[in-house]
Amino acid sequence: MAGGGSRLWLRVLLGVFSVALLLCGVGTAVGTWVWTGKVVDTRGEVDFVNRLAVPPLAESRIDGQGRRVFDLRAQPGQRDFGQGGPTATWGFNGDYLGPTLRAKRGEQVLVNVVNGVGRPTSVHWHGMHLPAVMDGGPHQMVRPGATWSPYWKVDQPAATLWYHPHPHGETAEHVYRGLAGMFILDDEPSAALALPRRYGVDDIPVIVQDRKFESDGRLDEANSELGGIGILGDTLLVNGTVGPYLDVSTERVRLRLLNGSNARTYDFGFADNRAFELIGTDGGLLERPHRTGRIRLSPGERAEVVVSMLPAERVVLRSYPPNQGIDFVNDRFTGGDDTFDVLELRAAASLATSPEVPDRLVPVERLDPASAAETRRFRLSGRQINGRRMDLDRIDFAVTRGSTEVWEIEKQDGTPHSFHVHDVQFQVLSVDGREPPPELAGWKDTVLLTAGDSIRIIARFADYPDPNMPYMFHCHLLYHEDQGMMGQFVVVEPGQRPGRPPSGPGHAQHG
Ligand code: C2O
Ligand code: CU
Ligand code: CU
Repeated sequence: MAGGGSRLWLRVLLGVFSVALLLCGVGTAVGTWVWTGKVVDTRGEVDFVNRLAVPPLAESRIDGQGRRVFDLRAQPGQRDFGQGGPTATWGFNGDYLGPTLRAKRGEQVLVNVVNGVGRPTSVHWHGMHLPAVMDGGPHQMVRPGATWSPYWKVDQPAATLWYHPHPHGETAEHVYRGLAGMFILDDEPSAALALPRRYGVDDIPVIVQDRKFESDGRLDEANSELGGIGILGDTLLVNGTVGPYLDVSTERVRLRLLNGSNARTYDFGFADNRAFELIGTDGGLLERPHRTGRIRLSPGERAEVVVSMLPAERVVLRSYPPNQGIDFVNDRFTGGDDTFDVLELRAAASLATSPEVPDRLVPVERLDPASAAETRRFRLSGRQINGRRMDLDRIDFAVTRGSTEVWEIEKQDGTPHSFHVHDVQFQVLSVDGREPPPELAGWKDTVLLTAGDSIRIIARFADYPDPNMPYMFHCHLLYHEDQGMMGQFVVVEPGQRPGRPPSGPGHAQHG
């Protein structure tokens, strides 16, 4: 009896052991499948059969007060991206994306924003220095059918900015459907430089967005299961074009790269690894061009590059696996191992001459940390900043008008985050205690945080005090922003105390 009992136990044990082994095997197989399935590599697989769409320059008129007036209408549409059928989309003045707005430093502009999408939304001028009440954040919601007409004076250097909705909790969805566009600023110093500047000819907007499609061609709006950063797509759109090519007719072409994706970080370069000149970042031109083979852009960031072409040659703009500075498991599930063919440049058999890129671009006045009135710390982890989630009724802090501040931003988790500040363009003082690399040496409004790094930035809050109307700072991975990885600050007069944000439509919508 005793012997039979131990044999039974042995069998049970063996059974348990083999089931465990089997599960292990299945687990490994599933794991391998998930792991390898999560890498996207479109090198050599994109048919560049569609001419790159170039967003039209928005028409404008000058009103009785001398203001340049633009009209933007957010509206529903339909577009066939060639993925099996048409899909519902949203766009400004069209079915997907919007026209490029363009204005000069010193001009007064006014934009009539009409909301035709049937849901409350807003339009934020990303990178623009302007009063908080004109900023288009979650406190400036536009009701369906309503028109919002912000106006301001353009008072900052020439730059490649952009606009997109900012409704609290729904930004990811609104941008994903197609609501975004470029806003180019010009000024005299930049106009005096020998840089390619003919829009759509040798000065090209390149808005890069990853999207997922259902088999019938509809946009797939579901967040990716793994990674925790929202939607990662396996198909790239450039200015809304899938498989785009650009006919180049000049020896040099300027690309205004905008990462308009919800969550994906790119590391742009060319398939043949040719070098190009990086001439500008988020807030304007650099002091001097930086010759490089790669430029990494996290969601919201921009870069202006000039690339040289030989007659009749073709070269592919590619996105290489971006160094996101996180562990390899999280990296894999957040696009860190992905490679994309983005856009094919096709040079004509003979090319018009382009001047060489000047050695010196524009002076960039360095902000001095010794002049900083305040140093603040921002710890980013999960969906929180400094342990708090966004609250539309809470002003996190007040900055005194005219003061310079140093902000130390630190990422404390294994997920990518990109830190964006409204109102100002900042300068990066250091990355993990070291001098910033050349691509972070100019004006910035968004910066990718890598693990363990502490990034110190400096900004001057020159004007537009308003104790009640806050500006936002947030993670520009739109899912994180929607989840509350955002805070609010006001600019106040010396000695003034912060007030209360209005309880407006931004509140009505989300309680
Ligand atoms: Cu581009 Cu607050 O956003
Ligand atoms: Cu912004
Ligand atoms: Cu984030």
